[in-house]
Amino acid sequence: MPLPAPFASLRLPVIAAPMFIVSTPHLVIAQMRSGIVGSFPALNARPASQLDEWLCEIEEKTEGCAAPLAVNLIVHKSNNRLQEDLKVLEKHKVPLVITSLGAMPEVNAAVHGWGGLVFHDVINDRFARKAVEKGADGLIAVAAGAGGHAGPQSPFALMQEIRAWFDGPLALSGAIACGRSILAAQAMGADFAYIGTPFIATNEANAASEYKQAIVDGAAADIVYSSLFTGVHGNYLRASITAAGLDPDNLPEGDKTQMDFGSGGNTAAKAWKDIWGSGQGIGAISSIEPVESRIAALETQYRAAMDALRDRVGMASHLVD
Ligand SMILES: Cc1cc2nc3c(=O)[nH]c(=O)nc-3n(C[C@H](O)[C@H](O)[C@H](O)COP(=O)(O)O)c2cc1C
Repeated sequence: MPLPAPFASLRLPVIAAPMFIVSTPHLVIAQMRSGIVGSFPALNARPASQLDEWLCEIEEKTEGCAAPLAVNLIVHKSNNRLQEDLKVLEKHKVPLVITSLGAMPEVNAAVHGWGGLVFHDVINDRFARKAVEKGADGLIAVAAGAGGHAGPQSPFALMQEIRAWFDGPLALSGAIACGRSILAAQAMGADFAYIGTPFIATNEANAASEYKQAIVDGAAADIVYSSLFTGVHGNYLRASITAAGLDPDNLPEGDKTQMDFGSGGNTAAKAWKDIWGSGQGIGAISSIEPVESRIAALETQYRAAMDALRDRVGMASHLVD
């Protein structure tokens, strides 16, 4: 199925993933100006009245940009701003809304009312089917190794199950941090790579310098998968867990009933602020740099990966017409 119009002129098939605290207009504007979809969670604008100001600023500073904006809504009972935020997104006719944690037909209908699209993020095929039944236009498959809340499934398993029945827009997420992985996501059936963590280690990200440096210094072995902090399983940097006085190798299970996305979670150390979310792809990140140069590097790597793949496919020329 051809991709919807807003995605026609992207520099790379990449959606920058929304990240709690980290994604503010400064980051989003840089992402869009660099030619990829920029995004932020509506809950990052605090108080709620700031959301309108943020959208005005982003519109003004990205005028003429071909890449569209996406705003993330947490569709969960702990989010008492949902309706208010939805009205602001309607006022600005935000072209893409990314919904997380729950799929609600009313939210999808409201977005469709102003001509917007809804992509819902899912960690398995069952949730993917539910999301589409409830009216989502596209899906974001959040595979093992993704930063923040993440599922346990291999991207191969997740993509093959979803692509078996869904031919709409599909993004793949989880540890994608170099150009070769963007191409690999497309080979697996994705239209987009959905990339979060690599944008934490950029000048424009709203994150402490120690957090950015930990991403530069870290590798996949430094990531811990735990439900302790928010009640939902997610990936975090080991060093931040140790710094909070906890043993990263012996964390208790989190309390799902206490899940309150956005207020800090289940431990004295605050999830997201003190306990740093990160995906497993950080071995590819070796410097803190401006968003534009990170995306330029991804583009160079992506082109090189295409050439290398052509050579490899050439070796299997007996399989190609
Ligand atoms: C620090 C951090 C905060 C995040 N906050 C949110 C959020 O508020 N809403 C959301 O839908 N996803 C959130 N995510 C998940 C990302 O949108 C995305 O799925 C993930 O970053 C992709 O994996 P990667 O980090 O390995 O690229 C967060 C991820 C990180 C690392």
